[in-house]
Amino acid sequence: MKIVHAGSELFPYIKTGGLADAVGALTAALSDNGHEVSVFVPGYRAVLEHRDAAGATRTMRLKIELADQFLSGDVRMFSPRPNLKVYLICREEFFDRQGPYGNGERDYEDNADRFIFFCKGVVEALRLGDFGADVVHSHDWQAALLPLLLRETERRHGTTLALKTVFTIHNIAYQGVFPAKIFARTNLPDELYSMDGLEYYSQINLMKGGILFADRVTTVSPRYAKEIQTPEFGCGLDGVAQTRADDLVGLLNGVDNSIWNPAVDPHLPARYSAVNLSGKHVCRLDLLKRSGFAPEFKGPIFGMVCRLTEQKGIDFVLANRDFFAAHECRLIVLGSGDRRMEEELLELAAEVPQKVSLAAKHDEAMSHLIEAGSDFFVMPSVFEPCGLNQMYSQLYGTVPIVSRVGGLVDTVVDADEDPALGTGLMCDPNAASLRDALQRALVLFSDRPRYLAIQQRGMAKNFSWSRAASGYERLYQESL
Ligand code: ADP
Ligand code: GLC
Repeated sequence: MKIVHAGSELFPYIKTGGLADAVGALTAALSDNGHEVSVFVPGYRAVLEHRDAAGATRTMRLKIELADQFLSGDVRMFSPRPNLKVYLICREEFFDRQGPYGNGERDYEDNADRFIFFCKGVVEALRLGDFGADVVHSHDWQAALLPLLLRETERRHGTTLALKTVFTIHNIAYQGVFPAKIFARTNLPDELYSMDGLEYYSQINLMKGGILFADRVTTVSPRYAKEIQTPEFGCGLDGVAQTRADDLVGLLNGVDNSIWNPAVDPHLPARYSAVNLSGKHVCRLDLLKRSGFAPEFKGPIFGMVCRLTEQKGIDFVLANRDFFAAHECRLIVLGSGDRRMEEELLELAAEVPQKVSLAAKHDEAMSHLIEAGSDFFVMPSVFEPCGLNQMYSQLYGTVPIVSRVGGLVDTVVDADEDPALGTGLMCDPNAASLRDALQRALVLFSDRPRYLAIQQRGMAKNFSWSRAASGYERLYQESL
């Protein structure tokens, strides 16, 4: 098949979270399976500075209509592996910036223009480049306008750009909601600013457009596919999601075993596998040392790697600060984002510096070391569309402590509830229930044979993307 993907992040070129890992791994898996895959991403500074992009060639010049203006741009392309082409939609004014979405303090004010330009750029490239796509598959709000813009452009030019469109919701909490006046920038017919179109409480909502106008809608776990149809998790789009219930499916993400695999991981000081865990001990020592702790420490290490946002349950961890102060354990956090959470975690680390550390930055190597060197991975999310770190943890022999939401339910089994199959510990998304799980973790850690059995079960799990990608292949084929 000829498959075109479009999204705002792509590992290893630009990443703020799991979206990058998921799009990177899915497109790699599809190209390995012999499909002709093209991925469109904005030509961010970080992407253009990546060594793979050094040889990118300019393949097209763009003139994009945005309300009553025409903005120029261009398309550059490089091919990082057979069957896979990465296309960059470039315009310095929009994408030659430090971060993809904001300056660290707040989102860029022209994000609507930036991502409408991106979506229009993709459609224009498909038109000029004659891609003959079987499927155009777009991800999250930044690429959510694509299905609708594509059909509109086909109508206007009397042509076919794609047989089918697919839209994947990686996180319904981020919808791309902008003031009504932004609608003019889409140059779509006025009737699409309506309840059955992009209008949403007198604003425009780009994700709503993706959900309504794609031929098929997917999300990243079966559980989340159900959850987003409820007011509790739908973030105001539950009604819209319900209208697509027949075309909505949850396909679980996988793990890219060439990147997240302790047996080959170049970020680790030593490699290891389920049959020989000695390298994991070396990782532990390195992690303790790098976090400012004595390497002789023998008790449990709790690790966390996440964006600091309400989603990740940081407040439940903070509410349990006395737990970490009272017990002989270590808490090692890597994450940046929300200022208040960062400050409170720093305060906690300052209160008990011998037990808690925070690295407030994005650090790819450190994220691997925490997965490898910890005993428990803490992920008490309020909601979690899929979640990747709990899968990485299991494969790295680190027992995940997760809440019972979204993809966490689809990927972790509680070891107290199901002693024969358990691979982790589960709690409800609140501070008291997390505390109970942390207590159970201490008990588990002191029972070595039981801990080792749970660890082995986690390491034996198959989360591979080849399984995950075949779900998408089936979906594409069915829809075609
Ligand atoms: P989400 O996409 O909601 O952030 P996921 O669990 O799906 O959550 O994926 C998060 C990805 O981002 C993982 O690969 C994780 O290791 C990575 N990540 C998050 N925060 C950081 C950080 N501060 N430094 C390095 N990697 C990070
Ligand atoms: C989103 C979700 C996360 C998911 C990731 C990749 O960022 O928050 O749960 O794993 O997308 O699909």
